[in-house]
Parts: sequence; structure tokens; C-alpha cells
Amino acid sequence: MQVILTNQPLTAVEADALLILQFEPEGRPATPSYHAIRDSNAAWLDEVESSGEAKGRLFETTVLHRPDGFQAKRLVLAGAGKANKFDAAVLRRLVGAAVRKAKGNGAAKLALALDDDYATGDFAAAIAEGVHTGNYEVDTHKSKKDERTELVEFKVVTAEKPDDLQEAFYRGNILGEAQNFTRDLANEPGNILTPAVLVERTRAMATLVDGLDVEVLDKDRMTQLGMGSLLGVAQGSPLPPFLIIVRYKPATPSTSTDHLALIGKAVTFDTGGVSIKPAEGMEKMKYDMAGGAAVLGAMLAIASLKPTIPVTAYVPTVENAVGGSAQRPGDIVTSLSGKTIEVLNTDAEGRLILVDAIEYAKRQGATHMVDVATLTGAIVVALGHIHVGLFSNNDAFRQQVQASAARQGEKMWHMPLDDEYKEYLKSPFADIGNIGGRWGGAITAAYFLKEWVGDTPWVHLDIAGTGWLDENKPYMPKGPSGVCVRTFVDLALNWK
Ligand code: BES
Ligand code: MN
Ligand code: ZN
Repeated sequence: MQVILTNQPLTAVEADALLILQFEPEGRPATPSYHAIRDSNAAWLDEVESSGEAKGRLFETTVLHRPDGFQAKRLVLAGAGKANKFDAAVLRRLVGAAVRKAKGNGAAKLALALDDDYATGDFAAAIAEGVHTGNYEVDTHKSKKDERTELVEFKVVTAEKPDDLQEAFYRGNILGEAQNFTRDLANEPGNILTPAVLVERTRAMATLVDGLDVEVLDKDRMTQLGMGSLLGVAQGSPLPPFLIIVRYKPATPSTSTDHLALIGKAVTFDTGGVSIKPAEGMEKMKYDMAGGAAVLGAMLAIASLKPTIPVTAYVPTVENAVGGSAQRPGDIVTSLSGKTIEVLNTDAEGRLILVDAIEYAKRQGATHMVDVATLTGAIVVALGHIHVGLFSNNDAFRQQVQASAARQGEKMWHMPLDDEYKEYLKSPFADIGNIGGRWGGAITAAYFLKEWVGDTPWVHLDIAGTGWLDENKPYMPKGPSGVCVRTFVDLALNWK
């Protein structure tokens, strides 16, 4: 399913439903497309307006069947909310919501009137992304799918057909598909998506595009290298661990020596290990690989959109299980950097696998690192399911990542990382403990990572609260969100 651009009179557009944006009345005159309906359907519009049925509230839809003078079977007033709050992020969600609604109402071919005010690249890309992300379903393993109409076409109708819109649609289609690739991975249960299967899926993904090179370090190689921190987590599971490396190199290398590393936690299932988690809600720990999945989805889009900077993904993948050989609280492991860790809690495993990947990325020449992980329950306490927790050791790089996130409508909140937090991680028996006590849990987890990062510009993103939606949204079903994919791709494309 691709989003396509057409420029034709609205009355001539063939579709099961033609969507027209309707803002809340205050402050903004109706758009040209809104006027176009009035020309032949004034009575209907007057009635929906005066009855109060269509108020233009965000995600509201008001449908007219068999509209006079239009080829489309239905006109839909799509509530766009307050005009002064309307931006690409709102349009992305609005389109997602419209797609979800259409699928439930027998509409397979949709069209959206895009008025000149919004006919820019940002809005165009957001539309394509919204179509793909709204179209996503989580029932791949259900024998009988929920009843719905498959979306076959989404047209965007503009007055003109500027070239930069075509390019933006291309980008939006790729970003939307990449985000759904990430969501498919995160949605898989722990018995299906094991570390070895994640390796297979990565290799399959890399064959879909040109320019990605996959290398996989297995247990023997990691033992040889001395990745004791990662291997300690893996030892409780019969499933072998891997460090997946995916490289993208630009065809014409830029003159700068910058090299971006994207590092994603991929614990295919997190039981907590011997410090076992409570039964309630444990099934959700299948998405404890959402960080790794986001990094891999980003690489898929990066290979298609070809930024000028080299990008390498590092995805450490293990299962945190409770087999007879599982590591114990109190065990001391030696990480790749040589730093020793007292494993005070086996459920703080994400940081243990990440630090070996971080050290390895540095050795491979990363000049900038972003890691992404479903790292702590504490970030959910702090920020709920709205903001990604963002930590950094470098203001300039942090602002670069935040600018990408803002452009992509992904909310990220800058959290503190002062040196005073170091004290919480002290261990009398090893160089550092892997937990920091009851308070500031998301910060001490980030601080633990920072101890391996050193001075390399780095951003850590904790997506424990945002990688999975606990409730259906109008624009997305309950389940994996694919958060961070768009930010990563934007970061690589707009490198400075
Ligand atoms: N994977 C969890 C974090 C998590 C919690 C992800 C909720 C998604 C939703 C992580 O491995 C973990 O267990 N963290 C512990 C750390 C604690 C033992 C210091 C936590 O947050 O409870
Ligand atoms: Mn855990
Ligand atoms: Zn975990």
C-alpha cells in the first residue's frame, strides 16, 4: 500500500471516502476544500454546523454519503482540532485515525484534500507515515482476523503537484514501513522471536535494501573478546546470545569523520532472572527488545534514504531467563572494558548487555552514540507513557537529537545526569554495582551506562513507557509503537 499524490479537482476524485479537514470554528476561516463542499452541498454543511454535530474536534468524523457533485462515494469532515495547535504531528495522527475508522466502515480507497497551506514536505511525509502506522494490525497470530476492510489506496489531492512533495511522500512511505517493521518485531512473543530468530530477521531485512552489511558476533566470539557482562545475562537461558552489527556506509563518504552508532537493547524476553519479576504483567516483557527493533527499523529506512553519514547499529540480544545456570545476585562479572560489576539484581540486565555493546561500538570508531532501551520501570513512573526519557553527556549532540525528535513529533524529556548520582552505584566488592537503590532508578540506570560511554557524545533514550501502548488510540492499536525510528532516521538525514 503506497500513498500517492494527485492534482485534480476535488469533485473529480474517485474514492470510497474523500476527507476534508475541519478545524474548530474559532480563529480560522474554512479552508478552500471546505468551501468546495459548500458549493454543491450547502444545505448539508449548514445542518451539520448548526446542529452541532460536527465541531471540528480532533479525530471527530462526520460523513455525507453520495455527496452532490462529487465522484467520491462519501465526504468525510475530519475534525482537525484547534487551528493554532495544528501541525505535522497532529496531521499524522489524524490520518492514522481516519485510516483506522475507514477500515471498520468498508472504505478501501481513501483520499485527503490537502489545502495549499499544508502542502509542504513536513505535512506530506506525516500523511504517509500516518497511513502506514494507522494501518498496522497486531493480530498476525490470530487464525481469524478481526473484521475489517483492507486499505488499498490513499490519495492526497493537492491544487498543484510540487516535486518536493513527491520526495516527502517517498520518505514518509519508507519511514512508515520501517516503523511497522519495528512494531512487528516488538509484537512477537518470546518463544517465536528468540535471539537467533532476531538475527535471521535482521539478515532478511538487509536483503530488502541495498547497502546494508550484517555481521553477527556469536557466543564464542564474545567470550574470546571478553564480553562478560553481556554473557552473564545470557547464561541463564538455553538460547544463545548474539551481538548483531548492521553497517550502512554512504556511497560518497563525506569529508567529516563522524560515525553514528545506534545501540538498541534486545532482551527477547525478560523474566528478571533469579531476581524474578512478579507474574502479573510479565507477558509484556516480550517487548523488552523494542530498542533493538527500533534501531533495526531505522537501518532499513536509512539504507533507502541514504544519508551522507556512516551509521552502524549494534544490537545485543539475549534472553534473561532463570535456568539452573543463571547468574546469581552478588555475582561479579568483568565487562569488555575491564570494569567489574557486582550484579546486585539480575533484573537490571539491560544495562549489563548495553555496556559491552557500547564499549565495542567505541572500539569500532563510533564518534557519536545513541542507545535506546526499555530500561527501567522508573522512567514510566516519572514520565508515564507520553515522553521518552532522554539523558546525555553532551549538550550540542543532545540538542541535535531533540531537534530531530521535535520534527518527527516524538516527545522526549531531558532528564538530569549529575555526577552526584554516581554515589548510588557504589559497590564494596566491584568497580560498580548494577543498581542504585530505590530512588531515581531511571537516572542511576543511565548513569551506569555513562560510566562506559566516557566522553564520546552520547544520548540515552529510555522507552520503557513509550515502546508499547497499553490502550487503543484512535490512530494506533494497543501494542508496539515503533517509537524512535523516525527520530533516528531524521538524525542521520539531517546530520550536522
Ligand atoms: N525491562 C525492564 C524495564 C521495564 C519495565 C520495561 C517496565 C518495560 C516496562 C528492565 O530490565 C528492568 O527489569 N528494570 C528494573 C531495574 C531494577 C531492578 C533496578 C526495573 O525497572 O524494575
Ligand atoms: Mn529486567
Ligand atoms: Zn529488561
